[in-house]
Amino acid sequence: MKKLFFSLSIFVLSLKVFAGAGPGIQHLRVVWHEDPAHEAYVMWTTDKYKTKSYLYYDTVPRKGVLSKYRYKNNAKTKPILYTLDTRHKSKLKKLKPNTMYYFMAVTNGMKSKEYHFKTAPDGGVNFKILFGGDSRSDRPKRREINRSLSKMLESDDSILALCHGGDYIANGLSWKQWKYWLEDHLLTVTSKGRMLPVIPTRGNHELASPLFNDVFARPGGLFKKNYYRIKIGDFSIITLNSNVSAAGRQKRWLKKTLKKARKDSKWIVANYHRPLWPAVKKPGRGIKHWVPLFEKYQIDMAFESDGHVLKRTVPIYQNKQDPVKGIVYVGEGGLGVKQRNPKKDRWFLRSPGYATSKHHVMTLEVTPSRMIYTVDLPDGTVFDKMELLPRKR
Ligand SMILES: [Fe+2]
Repeated sequence: MKKLFFSLSIFVLSLKVFAGAGPGIQHLRVVWHEDPAHEAYVMWTTDKYKTKSYLYYDTVPRKGVLSKYRYKNNAKTKPILYTLDTRHKSKLKKLKPNTMYYFMAVTNGMKSKEYHFKTAPDGGVNFKILFGGDSRSDRPKRREINRSLSKMLESDDSILALCHGGDYIANGLSWKQWKYWLEDHLLTVTSKGRMLPVIPTRGNHELASPLFNDVFARPGGLFKKNYYRIKIGDFSIITLNSNVSAAGRQKRWLKKTLKKARKDSKWIVANYHRPLWPAVKKPGRGIKHWVPLFEKYQIDMAFESDGHVLKRTVPIYQNKQDPVKGIVYVGEGGLGVKQRNPKKDRWFLRSPGYATSKHHVMTLEVTPSRMIYTVDLPDGTVFDKMELLPRKR
């Protein structure tokens, strides 16, 4: 009897662990990598291995009448290991910049609703990118913040995407937790169906989990370990992976990419998970390998996560405050994780820098003459604002 009870419990537990995504098309999302003016991934999940999967899309709404969509794309399907779910991925290419795309996913006769997203401009248009990280372990807070992101997107047409700085969930190997995150990300969709594309970053809680690549279409491609540059007109975000070696191949790639960006970008920002000028923990290895390159090539600012606080450093150059050549490091992650107490006495957090415990999302507005950085709290209060002018490189 004991044995039977034990086997039954294991069976029920495995059903829970391996439970499918549920009926219909789930987790629809847009993911951006290098060239979001012309390319995007649309991805979704279904609960069984299904192979006939398509994305219908157009630059005008077609309200779900499939025959009216001008474009149809095959989606690649892949079973998600150790689950009963299937991942669907459609790569849209040759898109028009600064254009709204309306789309529907169709898998084995199942249809999603029609959603839309706007491609990035390829220059000449002001836009905003949201930045923030660490949404991993306070689900109600994460959902509250996602609702506030939806409101921001609803009221501001120039917001394009969310650059998430990593630690989406507590255990990167748990598909169940990814499913919750993906369900919650749908709360960022506006009432009219506009989606907020994700620019992904690997955090330490993603570990080396292959699920990160399943969810975000392997940013960086096959041969790079999730580090890549996204370029929008003359604005570049260099996303690094603080979960693999900061030296060697990644450092060489960073140097090469900064050399290129110096020529083709007016604005260069870096984005990675583990802080180099931390308000809570010790600095990541990038302090040795990346900071000298950031300083040499004079990036405009850097977005960090992981500490679970809100901070802005003084402008830092060669380990000192420098108002001319210094780089400001911001962030530390507050998209739905309990906030910690920062170590406010660190020299680089003195005024005009600061460190505090507040859930937050950051916005960077990019214009030809300046970048405007703001920090919004979930209740809509603007907590911080800073302007950046073009740098001499
Ligand atoms: Fe982290």
